Amino acid sequence: MAGEINLDSLGLSPSHLDAGAQIFARPWGFEKGVVAPDGLPTDGRVEIAFAGRSNVGKSSLLNALVGQKGLARTSNTPGRTQELNLFISEGPLRIVDMPGYGFAKAPKDAVDRWNRLIRRYLRGRVELARVFVLIDSRHGLKPNDLEILKMLDETAVGYQIVLTKSDKLKPGQLARVTAQTAEAISKRPAAFPFLASTSSEKGDGIDVVRGFIARLLDDLGALEFED
Ligand code: GTP
Ligand code: MG
Repeated sequence: MAGEINLDSLGLSPSHLDAGAQIFARPWGFEKGVVAPDGLPTDGRVEIAFAGRSNVGKSSLLNALVGQKGLARTSNTPGRTQELNLFISEGPLRIVDMPGYGFAKAPKDAVDRWNRLIRRYLRGRVELARVFVLIDSRHGLKPNDLEILKMLDETAVGYQIVLTKSDKLKPGQLARVTAQTAEAISKRPAAFPFLASTSSEKGDGIDVVRGFIARLLDDLGALEFED
């Protein structure tokens, strides 16, 4: 698959792909779920988070990255992930699977609670090195996505877009939504310009997201290369 993708256009080198593969070849496990930011560990790990609308495929992306189907719980029913679920491995990284936003059908007090948790976490977490904002490739950026991007821009938390469910689109449609989304974020101050389009179901683009994570660690001086 690596041969088919243009790494330069993604800001990656082959060594990022290799390092990304290594990071996720290690066993990953569930650390804990927290309902409030004060339950978060303070051990100095580099943290990344998966944010996005309810049902966009955050938990599925995590499972695809680690190659373990059941590590994070997924569901057809929006609102499956209700806490900040933390996952760690041997390396310096922690991954946070977040509750989704924009789910109108859940009870209002639950929605309020999740939204508060999402905002408090994204605004206040010093360890948070990058947020991967997942966007359903069939729908593109929606108003509640833009609200989150605005908040991240204001708080200067770097973020990167990952399009999900690419298997649901024809290649031409996917190219179009990718270009539109890239254009839409091009002037946003905290947006990282490279997008991945992924299918957790088919595995497309998963190596690219692993590479993005390796590059982030590399940029932070936290990448441990193994020969
Ligand atoms: P919440 O935790 O409720 O916010 O949802 P989530 O963003 O974690 O979504 P989740 O991973 O639970 O996936 C939601 C639904 O989308 C499930 O039925 C998944 O099987 C489906 N799904 C996720 N990724 C893909 C994909 O790449 N392709 C297809 N076709 N379906 C997907
Ligand atoms: Mg989830």
